[in-house]
Amino acid sequence: MAVTQFAGSILSADLLNLQADVADALKAGIDIIHFDVMDYHFVPNLTFGPGLLKQMRKAFPEAVLDVHLMVTPVSENIIRDYAAAGASWISFHPEACTHIDRTLGLIKDLGCRAGLVLNPGTAPQMLRYLWDKLDFVLVMTVNPGFGGQKLIPSALQKVSDVRRMAAEANVKPLIEVDGGVDPKTVGACAQAGANVFVVGSAFFGQQDRAQALAYLRQGLQA
Ligand code: DX5
Ligand code: ZN
Repeated sequence: MAVTQFAGSILSADLLNLQADVADALKAGIDIIHFDVMDYHFVPNLTFGPGLLKQMRKAFPEAVLDVHLMVTPVSENIIRDYAAAGASWISFHPEACTHIDRTLGLIKDLGCRAGLVLNPGTAPQMLRYLWDKLDFVLVMTVNPGFGGQKLIPSALQKVSDVRRMAAEANVKPLIEVDGGVDPKTVGACAQAGANVFVVGSAFFGQQDRAQALAYLRQGLQA
């Protein structure tokens, strides 16, 4: 079983002081910086582009930058732009992409870790045909678009299903959960089989990030 990792979502950071906030998060011990890209089409919100990612990479050369694309369509150009800007991980939603297998291959060819994101209403069956190109699976535990929502319990069933499917296929992708993860819900996510936890409001939304991370880690034990 892979080590547990926390990914702080900058959606809940202080955007006017982003560099200081990311520095603070890394100092507090966050493992990954989660970078939500929204285009106002795939989800009803608009966020960050490759220009910002490039600056972030420059400021934090060692950071693991996890780019979650909530855009449609997912084109080759978009993947190339974020890889060139310094993404470490890139994931996208299958509904937004015509050639899923090819796109995962492209992400890997560009030297990034590749992931597929499953919305709450999206079935995981297609993963069975894609394991060879999947470094991680991101299970949405809310409908994407906004921070601060409540975790949808049926998504935990999907996390278990993905965990079981991976075991049956004898592969060990990371399983990341995103949305409504806090000290109260993180334990159930881990029990279901997740090992990477995206935390927006429960981490960047808190004044004391080291304390927030300590509460999340306590929640894992509960
Ligand atoms: C939602 C985003 C999440 C969001 C999570 O569409 O993908 O990454 O920032 O925020 P919280 O942790 O507050 O639910
Ligand atoms: Zn996200």
